[in-house]
Amino acid sequence: MSALETVRVNLGARSYDIIIGDGILAEAGKYCAPLIGAGKAAIITDANVGPIYGQALAQSLAQAGIECVTLTLPAGEATKNFAQLQDMLEKLLGAEFERSDTLIALGGGVIGDITGFAASVLKRGCKFIQIPTTLLAQVDSSVGGKTAINSPHGKNLIGAFYQPKLVLADMAVLSTLPKRQLKAGYAEVVKYGLLGSEDFFGWLEANGEKVLKQQPAALGRAIAISCRMKADIVATDEREHGQRALLNLGHSFGHAFEALAGYQADLLHGEAVAAGMSMAFDYSRALGLCSGQDAARVKAHFSSLGLMDWAALPARVREQRGAMLSAMMQDKKNEGGALTLILTRGIGRAFVSKGEDAKKLNDFLLAYAKDGV
Ligand code: NAD
Ligand code: GLY
Repeated sequence: MSALETVRVNLGARSYDIIIGDGILAEAGKYCAPLIGAGKAAIITDANVGPIYGQALAQSLAQAGIECVTLTLPAGEATKNFAQLQDMLEKLLGAEFERSDTLIALGGGVIGDITGFAASVLKRGCKFIQIPTTLLAQVDSSVGGKTAINSPHGKNLIGAFYQPKLVLADMAVLSTLPKRQLKAGYAEVVKYGLLGSEDFFGWLEANGEKVLKQQPAALGRAIAISCRMKADIVATDEREHGQRALLNLGHSFGHAFEALAGYQADLLHGEAVAAGMSMAFDYSRALGLCSGQDAARVKAHFSSLGLMDWAALPARVREQRGAMLSAMMQDKKNEGGALTLILTRGIGRAFVSKGEDAKKLNDFLLAYAKDGV
């Protein structure tokens, strides 16, 4: 099947397309060949995705005249580290990769983030293409050029803004994604409605179940709208000096949940973000910024689809509510020790709030009860 929709990320000389389709992995060679040109290419994937989709991608590239090497990394967040990055770079240098050569990230956000960072430093920058295989990666991490690895000091602390040349989002590959991962990615889809489009959120209330059942029309529309919204924000604020921070709605709370959970597998990033967005709405309500009806609508949507809220977070997180504030103070958005939060005046009306009162937030966190405030 051919492409459904192309979304352009407008960044001058660094502009690129996000091509969204059903079954387009088989056509990857056609889309990638003009970008790879006469250079070499490497597929970087993980141990779950590579065995399922690596061969189909390599075949499609071969049909377009591109021979490539494949590097398979361990699956999971722990892969985003210096040792894996170094190993990848040494192998690519050993294979005489040059600036004009291309890395193709085939996987979720973990593979996209480490591959993009490797591309940004390999001989001071080679080309890279994103082929995201999780819903989270298709609607968020593959778009916008944030690349990173983790440090013992925290997640994504070592990285670069480095844009891909192309994003190919094949919704058919989501059929093998574990349902829990799909749901976690769906939280990032909802984020776009909550931050900037009440219409989109309303559409998700009516169609979210179809998206999670992977009905192609609904899933394709959800991915395309999400990518369009992210592309528009990135085009106006690539390096997050302002509006791009809106994409972190729910993340200040969510990242703190993840840190308190110890980045264990019982709390996925998207799950933490869903609970974090509910909390951001509750805090906005507590500050008198948004209505209780809107906060309730957000929680009702998540709970109707089995997404996490505060009450469903691992007990060890809820028991550490006294440590939430200090975890939130680590957030990359904070400046000069002052707290920055993404708050909201209602569904679709998020805004960046700098210099938030830490004591007020702490009082709210300490009082947060099983069913919210
Ligand atoms: P992930 O890459 O770990 O993928 C989740 C799991 O699904 C892995 O086990 C993976 O092997 C497996 N998988 C992936 N695709 C599959 C498929 N089609 N079929 C079967 N299994 C499949 O996690 P993720 O949720 O995609 O990404 C999380 C990462 O993304 C985090 O490191 C986060 O920091 C990063 N992130 C980056 C940005 C950004 O802007 N760069 C934005 C959001 C998140
Ligand atoms: N995921 C947040 C961003 O790309 O800015």
